Amino acid sequence: MRSFIRRGLSSPFAKPIAFVLALLPFVWLVGGAELDRRGANPAEALERSSGDWTLRLLCIVLAITPLRTVAGLPELAKFRRMAGLFVYFYAVLHLFAYSWFDMGFDLADIGGDIVKRPFILVGFTAIVLLTPLALTSFNRAIRALGARRWQLLHRLVYAIAVLAVVHFFWMRAGKHNFAEVAVYAVVLGGLLAWRVVQFVRKKAPLRLPFAVNWLQKQ
Ligand code: HEM
Repeated sequence: MRSFIRRGLSSPFAKPIAFVLALLPFVWLVGGAELDRRGANPAEALERSSGDWTLRLLCIVLAITPLRTVAGLPELAKFRRMAGLFVYFYAVLHLFAYSWFDMGFDLADIGGDIVKRPFILVGFTAIVLLTPLALTSFNRAIRALGARRWQLLHRLVYAIAVLAVVHFFWMRAGKHNFAEVAVYAVVLGGLLAWRVVQFVRKKAPLRLPFAVNWLQKQ
């Protein structure tokens, strides 16, 4: 089964198919199917759905490395950059929908709203932090920054994931509706916990000789 999946992922069609799949929600949203289905307020539907898709793709991006390691699918690595750029694409669409439908592109109103409503400030901080990640996701930027600095910068994605959940939680807090927020919090929390475990495991062998030395001296 695994070799079948690996062959599929290595196929030259895999990336174009992933690209089309990631673009489908956009086509579906802008094409109006979603708007018709949700009915009453199409602007709100676009605004919310683009937020939902940003969060879903963020989960996918953060799931790639654990899946690659645990399921033994190294081919998944080649989808990470594309998935990351789609997170940014849907986040920008979300910001665009908010700026247009809620604020009529009035920059002063947008600035005022960011300062006044904490959940907007948190969402805005998340997209500001996403921007350098999107801008440095190309080979030339990786070369210019150097692998170590690039890696450090891209660890911002964990802070972005936390901000995204806080943004969603805060938005739903007024309605006391936390079911969906809880699902995202559990998924993202699990993915972040996996990273922490890997980090500690990697560091542990380095620290072990010091600990053994110290114990022997006691
Ligand atoms: C990484 C960045 C962001 C993520 C992951 C995100 C995600 C979300 C999610 C999941 C929702 C709830 C959708 C639902 O109820 O189904 C939402 C709502 C909302 N977001 Fe964001 N968001 C982000 C950035 C922003 C930014 C930059 C703004 C504006 C400056 C913003 C403004 C809003 C507003 C106004 C709503 C409520 C929409 C409504 O009540 O109809 N978000 N966002």
